[in-house]
Amino acid sequence: MSSRVPDAIYDEVRTLRTDLEDANYRYYVEDDPAIPDIEYDRMLRRLQEIEADYPELVTADSPTQRVGAPPAEGFPEVRHSVAMLSLDNAFSDEELRAFVKRVSDKLECADDDLTFCCEPKLDGLAVSLIYENGLFVQGATRGDGRIGEGITANLRTLKSIPLKLRGDSFPELLEVRGEVYMSRSGFERLNEKARDEGSKLFANPRNAAAGSLRQLDPNVAASRPLEFCAYQVARIDDAYLESCHSALMARLRDFGFRSSPELSVVKGSEGIIDFCERMGQRRETLDYDIDGAVLKVDDLRLQRELGFVSRAPRWAIAFKFPAQEQTTVINDVAFQVGRTGRLTPVAKLEPVQVAGVTVSNATLHNMDEIARLDARIGDSVIVRRAGDVIPQIVRVLSEKRPDDAREIVLPEHCPVCGATIEKLSEEVDARCSGGLYCAAQRKEALKHFASRRALDIDGLGDKLIDALVEREWVSTPADLFRLEAAKLAELPRLGEKSAANLVSALERAKRTTLPRFIYALGVPEVGEATANALATHFGSLARLMDASHEELIAIPDIGPVVAAHIATFFQQAHNRESVDDLMAVGVTWSEVEVSAREQPLSGQTWVLTGTLEAMTRDEAKARLVALGAKVSGSVSKKTHAVVAGPGAGSKLAKAEEAGVEILDEATFIDRLKAFENDEGDSAS
Ligand code: IVH
Repeated sequence: MSSRVPDAIYDEVRTLRTDLEDANYRYYVEDDPAIPDIEYDRMLRRLQEIEADYPELVTADSPTQRVGAPPAEGFPEVRHSVAMLSLDNAFSDEELRAFVKRVSDKLECADDDLTFCCEPKLDGLAVSLIYENGLFVQGATRGDGRIGEGITANLRTLKSIPLKLRGDSFPELLEVRGEVYMSRSGFERLNEKARDEGSKLFANPRNAAAGSLRQLDPNVAASRPLEFCAYQVARIDDAYLESCHSALMARLRDFGFRSSPELSVVKGSEGIIDFCERMGQRRETLDYDIDGAVLKVDDLRLQRELGFVSRAPRWAIAFKFPAQEQTTVINDVAFQVGRTGRLTPVAKLEPVQVAGVTVSNATLHNMDEIARLDARIGDSVIVRRAGDVIPQIVRVLSEKRPDDAREIVLPEHCPVCGATIEKLSEEVDARCSGGLYCAAQRKEALKHFASRRALDIDGLGDKLIDALVEREWVSTPADLFRLEAAKLAELPRLGEKSAANLVSALERAKRTTLPRFIYALGVPEVGEATANALATHFGSLARLMDASHEELIAIPDIGPVVAAHIATFFQQAHNRESVDDLMAVGVTWSEVEVSAREQPLSGQTWVLTGTLEAMTRDEAKARLVALGAKVSGSVSKKTHAVVAGPGAGSKLAKAEEAGVEILDEATFIDRLKAFENDEGDSAS
């Protein structure tokens, strides 16, 4: 408290209010958010803190004193007879414990005497639905909490909203509230269609849902994959009231509404913390976006006793997950050259923390993506990092573009070898024309050759390959096998022992299998599965090298593009020389055995679900494929086994139902190792 408010505080309050109002307008009126939620929450919290310290600064129009923005023109105004409030947020376990303490202090009871109903916090839009004598008569948005927009016609198009309540008996009056949202798969389909039609893409499922609901023509909403999930009863005849929220949700299900399948009733602060942790793990596996969890005192009598503070109930709190999006600036763009010469633009970002990790690079994929985003050097952008997915630039904040922002141009010459850059008009990618003369392509080709699924050269890491190419000690794969321990030991940070180990690893790697050798050659578009198919089909490298285009496309799973890449690769003299050279230095495999041998998991289809902890899903998939299995996204009678990590959902249930074998991650890894060892033994 202070009698004199410092000028700096006045200024800060003024800026915070304008920024919050602008953000509100963009979010609520234009459905086109300008800043990530975390930034909004931070500003609102800061303003709340200042207003708590200097109550004389609180004004009626401060963003802390209201919930949203006025309704847009075009829809009728609907006055909510019970205000649609917001929720207070918690960002940590401590804040959750503090919430439970406030509740238990007020009710004079112990922490674990309290029962909470826990639900995921769906990332969509709140709506209110009114039923009179069992019929859906009015649907409205939240608006500013007191007055919303009547969007009955749009809401009637949602299949998850009953037009008539189910059952023989229902209340005269029922007001249900819940979230309208779009599933991730529905969103992907919608954007794919928009891309095909050349129309504007939606930034995320929430925006797509909001955009669909505020169309004046209900046919638009009808064509969009919107869903409704109920989470509250605002009004109901006394005879139908229950003693707790969870029972009321069950009653709503009987009336024909969807409520969250994740809903869980728990005890005390430890119960809710547990739930939030579980939801955090489940988050990536769900087909809809959630941004946290909502924890509610289950007993409705206690809810009434606790009541409300200005904008939120005392009996509930929203736990917010760490933000997956942050704002930062593109400082520069570098072009990386890949194994096949493809140029990938990579944004060099002002380092920023996203979901607990410092992000300083994000791929821009290709020039088309740069044009789609309209990104320039100097732009402020929103970066997103979800799960173990590499960071992506979601959107450019063009209103923040500085005057000196620079266009991103495709270089004319390779930044590594200086060869010209080619971009065929029908291709998305630009490529360095330097081939294996380009050190970048050479390095990447060698890294691929030495990688675990190729020749698996133990101890030959990326940094070492860079050093070997830069010193020009190695330029082709065969050169690797001519390296001597004494020379290797001259390299900084590589002692005599490691040098000797590397030479033995190279010696061991010479004995390989035909599929690995084919994969290691790095033929464009030939991954492990194709390499396996080629090895099984031809049985020998000589036959593969002489195969015609017709012979190649006759193999199941090999299309004309891949066939063309294979034929071209083996027609080129330098590639044939490279193969000969490798055989001359002693690389061998057992041809007959490979052609005759079935792989351990041939003919089996596996499904991965839930979160894996010891490896990424891609790695699990690659290891299964390498053993001959197919990996599918859905469970059917043909599924051989399902690997279920924590958070596994409907696929697990389906597997149980179909009597399919279910493995946890530890058993899965044991099984993989056993098969991989078997394979190694029989191939050598
Ligand atoms: S209960 C009186 N439950 O979160 C509070 N809200 O920040 C009633 N939301 O406007 C809200 N999932 O749009 C509740 N399971 C859930 C929810 C949920 C998402 C949204 C809702 C609300 C906002 C509050």
